[in-house]
Amino acid sequence: MDKFVEDIYQYRRAVVLLTAAKTGIFDYFVKHEQTTLQEISRFFSWNSRGIEIILNALCALGYLNKKNDNYRLSDSLRTTVNQKEFPLLKEWLLHEWRLLTRWVHLPEVLESGLPFREPEKNTVHRNHRNFIYSMAHREQENTRVLLEKIDLSGYKKLLDLGGGPGLFSIAFVEKYSDLKATVFDAPETENIAQEFFKKSRVPTRLQFRGGDFRNDDLGGPFDVVLLSSILHIYSPEENIRLLHKVYDSMLPGGKIIIRDFLLNKNKTGPLMGNLFAVNMLINTENGNAYTYREMKTWLKESGFVEIKKAYLQGRMLLMEGIKLADSL
Ligand SMILES: C[S@@+](CC[C@H](N)C(=O)[O-])C[C@H]1O[C@@H](n2cnc3c(N)ncnc32)[C@H](O)[C@@H]1O
Repeated sequence: MDKFVEDIYQYRRAVVLLTAAKTGIFDYFVKHEQTTLQEISRFFSWNSRGIEIILNALCALGYLNKKNDNYRLSDSLRTTVNQKEFPLLKEWLLHEWRLLTRWVHLPEVLESGLPFREPEKNTVHRNHRNFIYSMAHREQENTRVLLEKIDLSGYKKLLDLGGGPGLFSIAFVEKYSDLKATVFDAPETENIAQEFFKKSRVPTRLQFRGGDFRNDDLGGPFDVVLLSSILHIYSPEENIRLLHKVYDSMLPGGKIIIRDFLLNKNKTGPLMGNLFAVNMLINTENGNAYTYREMKTWLKESGFVEIKKAYLQGRMLLMEGIKLADSL
């Protein structure tokens, strides 16, 4: 029973942390090394009861320290809650807040068979910006593994399909001096991707192509294509169609790289993969988390060979396949 109760109470931790992001408490600590209750209540014009309860809860969670009457960030948070790192981290936290407000609609999603849709249309653009920046935060965290595990020596033209802000493309192009990359994503992603391209060391070898990759021409031909966190958005049928299209956009001998969440054969773990599948149920028409075997079968059906796992840790799977050299 203990585990059951613990699991139920987990949401309270997330809500306290996300509230600290949403209300500006973390921003306050970016600017103030330490604070008393009086100072912080005055700053926000909040009553001190609420802020004291929240700050003490953040101490209990290990994210603030309290000494005498002063609160300060714990060492573990100070490395990310600072002027340099916090803006992108905050985008991700706000994105998670939005997801949280959707997750409480899971019963209706199950009953209707439809994803949750926010009623207010005017937030769609702002939500997309927040989503893309929060992807940038996640990409920053994951780039090192991708560079370590995927060898693109000798490749010339990368398509980063649904590449979002393009940080993976930037990292590859910065590493491989002969490589150019095209980030293909929804047109409204372009401004953010261009912003990151400009800040990179190689802006001239990066380009953005806007469109819907299910219906629009992908460009090419490419000798390497990356689909990172794409297959989980769509159904198996949609993915097979997409992979065929990717195959057709590639040069013989080209490499496809898939990076995605993974479920075990039985689809009963790892837990993060299952919870991600629930997230797809709430937020997409047909998305899900898939097994290695499912993704391998789709790649085979689309014509790819030499399919193998390149890396697997926790919820992150990297797999590769090749388009046969004599298949054009
Ligand atoms: C989950 S994000 C992954 C972003 C990036 N590849 C990564 O791993 O961080 C999915 C991306 O695919 C884009 N996307 C999804 N469906 C798309 C479509 N049909 N056409 C173009 N872009 C699409 C979204 O705009 C978003 O940037």
